[in-house]
Amino acid sequence: MSDAPFALETDALSFAYPDGFVALSDIAFRVRSGEFVAMLASNGSGKTTLIKVLAGLLSAQKGSTRINGRELRDYPQTELYQLVGLVFQNPNDQLFGATVAEDVAFGPRNLGLPETEVRRRVAEALRAVGAEELGERAIHHLSFGQQKRVAIAGVLAMQPPILILDEPTAGLDPAGEHSMLHLLGTLNRKMGITIVLATHSVDTLPLFADRIYLLNQGRVLKEGSPEEVFRDQELIERASLRLPHVSRLLSELKRLDGVPINGLPLTLREAREQLLSLIPDELIVEVKAS
Ligand SMILES: Nc1ncnc2c1ncn2[C@@H]1O[C@H](COP(=O)(O)OP(=O)(O)OP(=O)(O)O)[C@@H](O)[C@H]1O
Ligand SMILES: [Mg+2]
Repeated sequence: MSDAPFALETDALSFAYPDGFVALSDIAFRVRSGEFVAMLASNGSGKTTLIKVLAGLLSAQKGSTRINGRELRDYPQTELYQLVGLVFQNPNDQLFGATVAEDVAFGPRNLGLPETEVRRRVAEALRAVGAEELGERAIHHLSFGQQKRVAIAGVLAMQPPILILDEPTAGLDPAGEHSMLHLLGTLNRKMGITIVLATHSVDTLPLFADRIYLLNQGRVLKEGSPEEVFRDQELIERASLRLPHVSRLLSELKRLDGVPINGLPLTLREAREQLLSLIPDELIVEVKAS
């Protein structure tokens, strides 16, 4: 299994925009099939640029990009579209159908699929993102959060094994953020879709990733599990980011109040388990009973 080619792989990748600005330098980025990987970086660090290179929209001047072991430039365009689904940072860049159903149907229809199959895919994709009821709505009447869901549905209708999302939760309210997280978890864990996403938010998405690539000024600062990446606080600050709120609270309890916290809890669940382990059982029973 470990000999299987990477779903996505770049080696010594560098990219400069036409004005000469070097947006990516010497990037080694690898994603195994079925993985959930987050690019974590502050604004202007090169996330969108790297995503565009991975999806074949920009071509790097140096280094290589492979998809399933084959050079990206060797893929015919239509094959690439079916292999890698890209959800843009701004849904406006992606949606152009008159109605939601028309928009989602665009990709499969373009593949020349029979109309019954197109309709089936549209219904399935809208169901997957929880937007079944939006089918007949005009695209320009949708709220931002609805647009994000429909943009994802349009990509899912192509049934790509690899999904790349640029800032999928930016601009969503807390409920929208939660349901996006749930959706991405379902796509990855239940449907086996390889997911790569870019984000600068430290409190949610990257904590649920298998691995994080921490980027800064077009370079990879660190790669590892969420625990490994967030443990290096100096590096996190160098990347103009911060610890998740819950980790910060627990590390301050340890530093300022001597509370014996082990390691670095990142999620609410981990923090709760740590704190519960420090509270005497009798007290917990009393609290529950009151
Ligand atoms: N067309 C362009 N020409 C020149 N420089 C560009 C161009 N597009 C982006 N850049 C620069 O490349 C760098 C990386 O931009 P990019 O959009 O990839 O960052 P990002 O991490 O996605 O940022 P954000 O979080 O704000 O979306 C930035 O310094 C940006 O100014
Ligand atoms: Mg961006």
